[in-house]
Amino acid sequence: MARFASVMLLTTASLANFAVQAIAVEPRSFGKTKDGKAAKLYTVKNKNGMIAKFTDRGATLVELHVPDKNGKLADVVLGFDDVSGYESEGNQYFGCTAGRVANRIAKGKFSVGGKEYSVAVNNEPNALHGGVKRSFDKVMWNAMPFAKRGGSGIQFRYVSPDGEEGYPGTLKVEVIYTLDDSNSLTISYHATTDQATPVNLTHHSYFNLSGAGTDTVLDHVLTLNCKSYTPTDDTLIPSGKIAPVRGTELDFTKAEVIGKRIKSLIETAALGYDHNFVIDQEKPASGLTTAATVYDPTSGRVMTVMTTEPGIQFYSGNFLFGQKGKGGKEYKKRSALCLETQHYPDSVNQPSFPSTILKPGDKYTHKCVYRFSNK
Ligand code: GLA
Repeated sequence: MARFASVMLLTTASLANFAVQAIAVEPRSFGKTKDGKAAKLYTVKNKNGMIAKFTDRGATLVELHVPDKNGKLADVVLGFDDVSGYESEGNQYFGCTAGRVANRIAKGKFSVGGKEYSVAVNNEPNALHGGVKRSFDKVMWNAMPFAKRGGSGIQFRYVSPDGEEGYPGTLKVEVIYTLDDSNSLTISYHATTDQATPVNLTHHSYFNLSGAGTDTVLDHVLTLNCKSYTPTDDTLIPSGKIAPVRGTELDFTKAEVIGKRIKSLIETAALGYDHNFVIDQEKPASGLTTAATVYDPTSGRVMTVMTTEPGIQFYSGNFLFGQKGKGGKEYKKRSALCLETQHYPDSVNQPSFPSTILKPGDKYTHKCVYRFSNK
C-alpha cells in the first residue's frame, strides 16, 4: 500500500514537479488500532528541512520539526510513537482534528430546525470535542498524500453518517494539511451536509517551541490580536456576552510572557488559560487574519497563527499530567499550549454568536495557518 501511494504520486506528477517528489511522502506503519485497523504515518518535508508527520487516526499531526535561530530542528508538538498511544488515557486530543463540534456544548443539548438533539456529556456537565467513541479525533480518515509546486501534504477525508455521536445529517469532511517552503503549515477544511447540523472543526496541536517535552510554556511570549473574549461560567460555557480583555489577565494585545499573570487564573475552573478570544478582524485580501503570535526566547522560534475563523481558544495545557509521549518524554502540566482557531464555544445555543449551522447546499470552509520563523 505504501509502495502504491508513492508510485501513484510519481505517475501523476508532472516533470516540473518531479523535484518535489524527493521530499514528499513515504507512508509507513503506525501500528494497529484496538479494533484491528492498520494506521499509517505519512511524512512531508520542505526545502528548509522542516518535517511534518501525520496519521490517519483522527487526521492527526504527529510530529512537526521546526528550525530554531541556529537552524537546529526540534519537534515542537506533543504526541505518541504509535497509534496505541493515541488510543490511551494519556491522549488529550494531541494534534487531532476535533469535531463534528469542537469545544463545548452546554449539557450536550441543542436544537436545529425546531428539533431537539442530545449528544454525549463527556466533560461534566457538557459535551466536549464531538463525542465519545466516534468523534473526529478517534475515527480513521482516508488519506491521500500529494506533492505540488505550492507545497506537499495530505488530504484527509471522512464521511460522518447521519446520527453519528447524535448529530443530524451525513457530513462529508475534508481536511488538507499543506507544508510549504515559507515554513507554513496550512490546514484547509471543507464540509457539506444533507441535513442542517452544527459544525465547528479545529486543530488541537499542543506546541512547545523549545521542543515537545520541555518543562514549561509559561516562558513563551504571546500576542493575541484580540481585544475581547467570551466570558464563561465555571463549566467553561459562555454567558453569551463579549467582554473586553483590557485590564484583565487575558490582555495579550501587546506581547506578554504567558506565566506573568497566570497565577490568579490557576485558582479558577479553567486552571489557567482556557479561553475563547474574539479575533479582531483585519479582512486582508487572502481572508486570513493574524490571530496569534508566540515567541520562545530560548530557541528564537516564532509561530504565527492566521485564520479565517472568528475565534481562537488559547489553552495553556492545564490538564496535562505528566503522561509519557514520543521517545518516553514526559508532558508536564502547562508544558505545551494550544491555539485552536474555531467558532465560539456553545455557538449552537448562543443566537448572538456567529452561527455554526451548516445547511444542505452550503459549504463549510475554514483555513488556519501555523507559520514558523525565528528572531
Ligand atoms: C480544549 C479545552 C480544554 C481541554 C482540552 C483537552 O482545549 O478547552 O478545556 O478540555 O481541550 O484536554
